[in-house]
Amino acid sequence: MSDSPKLVRRPEWAALEDHRADQLRPQLRELFAADPGRAERYVVTVGDLRIDYSKHLITDETLALLQELATATGVFGLRDAMFRGEKINVTEDRAVLHTALRAPRDAVIEVDGENVVPQVHAVLDKMAGFANRVRSGEWTGHTGRRIRNVVNIGIGGSDLGPAMAYEALRAFTDRSLTVRFVSNVDGADLHEATHDLDPAETLFIVASKTFTTIETITNATSARTWLLEGLGGDDKAVAKHFVALSTNAGKVSDFGIDTDNMFEFWDWVGGRYSFDSAIGLSLMIAIGPDRFREMLDGFHLVDEHFRTAPAESNAPLLLGLLGVWYGNFHDAQSHAVLPYSHYLSKFTAYLQQLDMESNGKSVDRDGNPVEWQTGPVVWGTPGTNGQHAYYQLIHQGTKLIPADFIGFVNPVAELSDGLKKQHDLLMANFFAQTQALAFGKTPDEVRAEGVPEELVPHKTFKGNHPTTTILARELTPSVLGQLIALYEHKVFVQGAIWNIDSFDQWGVELGKVLAKRVEPALTEGADVPGLDSSTAALVATYRTLRSS
Ligand code: F6P
Repeated sequence: MSDSPKLVRRPEWAALEDHRADQLRPQLRELFAADPGRAERYVVTVGDLRIDYSKHLITDETLALLQELATATGVFGLRDAMFRGEKINVTEDRAVLHTALRAPRDAVIEVDGENVVPQVHAVLDKMAGFANRVRSGEWTGHTGRRIRNVVNIGIGGSDLGPAMAYEALRAFTDRSLTVRFVSNVDGADLHEATHDLDPAETLFIVASKTFTTIETITNATSARTWLLEGLGGDDKAVAKHFVALSTNAGKVSDFGIDTDNMFEFWDWVGGRYSFDSAIGLSLMIAIGPDRFREMLDGFHLVDEHFRTAPAESNAPLLLGLLGVWYGNFHDAQSHAVLPYSHYLSKFTAYLQQLDMESNGKSVDRDGNPVEWQTGPVVWGTPGTNGQHAYYQLIHQGTKLIPADFIGFVNPVAELSDGLKKQHDLLMANFFAQTQALAFGKTPDEVRAEGVPEELVPHKTFKGNHPTTTILARELTPSVLGQLIALYEHKVFVQGAIWNIDSFDQWGVELGKVLAKRVEPALTEGADVPGLDSSTAALVATYRTLRSS
């Protein structure tokens, strides 16, 4: 039981509240006018990422006060404990060591006195051997045909990471392979992923940390049926067409997958932090082991930055603190992540699990209710699509929505020259949006354009919407790793300040238990005691209308 003062009773918290009250909401127009050096000073560079945070409602004093809050709440001590392999996931009594997954071969990181780095590299080597055999055609299916299709079956952290990264790194993938991701227990997902595939050429990767997740086991069972039906029913086919990624060898074996075909990871890797573990096998097959290693090195670069950079230039710390500033002192409820890259179309969905499953908590690490806001709603889609949909609300609505804009200087190399030219237009939008959000358009500026007076309020942009701009030269495997690690550690910082356990996810359990209880009512018409009247009526309607 911690006896440190509650967050909201800390003097550092009170100082931030006073600062906020003194300042009202600082105006970006004024802040920039008063400080010509602001754009250069409020930039931090990490690896290939140039992170501009000058368009935030902050001054040097705001930053200093936020840093004091970080120090007072023990962010740095908890960070060091995480890197050392201490069991900072208190409710599950587990270490939190996704950073070990990308550590170099000669690193030493101990859990319960054992160096885990050799195990990490042994699995990476096994993955690389397998990926190379699939890519080269040496690994063949049951009938001797080479594998041309890879279907990853997993959900949550066992799906979102590889699915997102596969899209992100499409330009680096072997285009002769079809790689698909099945997650939803809705049979339509598996149907659409397999209906045009030849079972003789299809490899299923069953990805599940626990190997008990009902969606994944159900889909994997159906996939096995599809495969065996397609290949004449010989059970031996499973060994050539199914591999497993899991921490649970017993359950893998119970399912019928030879544990020789299992790639393991460990309980100190959280599901939403797992995609650079064995969970990344589908991605490694798609991009090859060397590119995968480049991605891990990108992660590691940001890990080292987070571990060692001074507070003033520590990017994950700064981003975490900015989120606290808006969420706790400006009542912002959500945070938009807006990548200006079509390849990052699944990036925000990936971050939703990372952030919202980590910091969507309302009790502190000791189990006491928190008296402060915790994680935001994270949302967003790639630019420029969002501009023609919901940006209206960001520009002129009543809500404060801090946003991250992520963009790249160069398009991917394989685009045609004509398509490459579109990149400048994409990026012109990228720069224009953060400018418009920050500085808006005053009524006088609108009037000066000859706009009739009655339309002036409608055409006025009050601006002052805070944004971070993350710019990199191009989207490479390393840059992707850097970006993800940046957000992982940002989430860590916020959880540490809010004193919540960012590494458990008890909030997903109740729905799972209730679904199991309701299912017999749907399938067999069983009487489910204890159903509330609304749910009972819905179930009855479902039974009545169900056609078969
Ligand atoms: O239900 C939530 C969750 O436990 C996530 O945290 C996890 O990423 C996902 O389910 C999948 O779990 P598993 O990898 O064990 O199948």
